[in-house]
Amino acid sequence: MKTIQDIDVKNKNILVRVDYNVPLKNGKVENDLRIRASLPTIDYLLKHGAQKIILISHLGRPNGKNTPDFSLSPIVSTLRKLLPNQKIGFYPLPNSNEKIKTLPTEKIILLENLRFDPGEEQNSSDFIKNIITATDAEIFVQDGFAVIHRAHASTDAVKNFLPICAGFLLKKEIENLQKILKKPEKPILFIIGGAKVEDKRPLIDKFVKIADTVAVGGKIAADGYKSTNPKIYVAKDFDEDTAGNKLDIGPFSTGKIANLIADAKTIVWNGLLGYAEDPAYATSSTIAAELLGEKQNATTIICGGDTTGFVENLMKSHPDLNYSLVSTGGGAALEFLLGKKLPGLEAISS
Ligand code: 3PG
Repeated sequence: MKTIQDIDVKNKNILVRVDYNVPLKNGKVENDLRIRASLPTIDYLLKHGAQKIILISHLGRPNGKNTPDFSLSPIVSTLRKLLPNQKIGFYPLPNSNEKIKTLPTEKIILLENLRFDPGEEQNSSDFIKNIITATDAEIFVQDGFAVIHRAHASTDAVKNFLPICAGFLLKKEIENLQKILKKPEKPILFIIGGAKVEDKRPLIDKFVKIADTVAVGGKIAADGYKSTNPKIYVAKDFDEDTAGNKLDIGPFSTGKIANLIADAKTIVWNGLLGYAEDPAYATSSTIAAELLGEKQNATTIICGGDTTGFVENLMKSHPDLNYSLVSTGGGAALEFLLGKKLPGLEAISS
């Protein structure tokens, strides 16, 4: 895979696809993992003399309409805090190929939510060509790992109009996830939680072929997921609320998963083990996150939006926790692990 280290970026305008689809609360960024994760690529481009860095991203699913609730403007404030020495401009999407008049002092500019234009999700060549012409972009860097499973204008069509390469985040994510598929150190443990059994079943089916054990918790276990495969351990006891809702896996199952974590050398965790939004039901997820973050000499990968958000939050009060990869991609990471073709990745390799 060609990366930015393989190309000369000096004095060039670089179009960088990032994924700033981050959770917002009251107009503020609630979790800046994806924004921080884009910094190594931005720093590299700045250090290597890129002329302008044009950042493009989507946020949410505004269905091709300009929807203020999905504006990327809260992200600009976070970016400005993370890059205090840079002047960062924020501009609407061009709706023609007319040049965007940026200030010469603005090395970095962010364009408004790509999905405000239906052309993004329609994988429209005209839409991406407008952006390229309006910004005088000369090279395209794909660093939006979390969106590479979509065939959109900024992940797919763009390959037809600019030289293309991967940024550091994309490279890091793919390299770590590839380790799981290629030469994982045994014993291998997959921990699957979360709510949607229809999404998780294919994961369990795939992972059981790779793993020594797949441990299933969360709502899928609480809803009665069953398997006769001896490699699959499904949580057996649950903490319930007064109405009898099973909201966390219980101490016996948590202990069993803790033992599996202690023995494993490669661990992938996707999906919370209980209804961890409520601290009363976050016990098993907290224990798993702490054990994984304290583990030495093992590959530990956290993926899925809820799980990474939970782990990131925990790391604020436990900065000593350390993981091989807290993946910025939910769907993208899982589709990669399931062996599906990812259009954004194919675009770089083709
Ligand atoms: C994600 O959060 O998984 C990515 O940003 C992709 O978003 P999407 O599922 O709306 O395409």
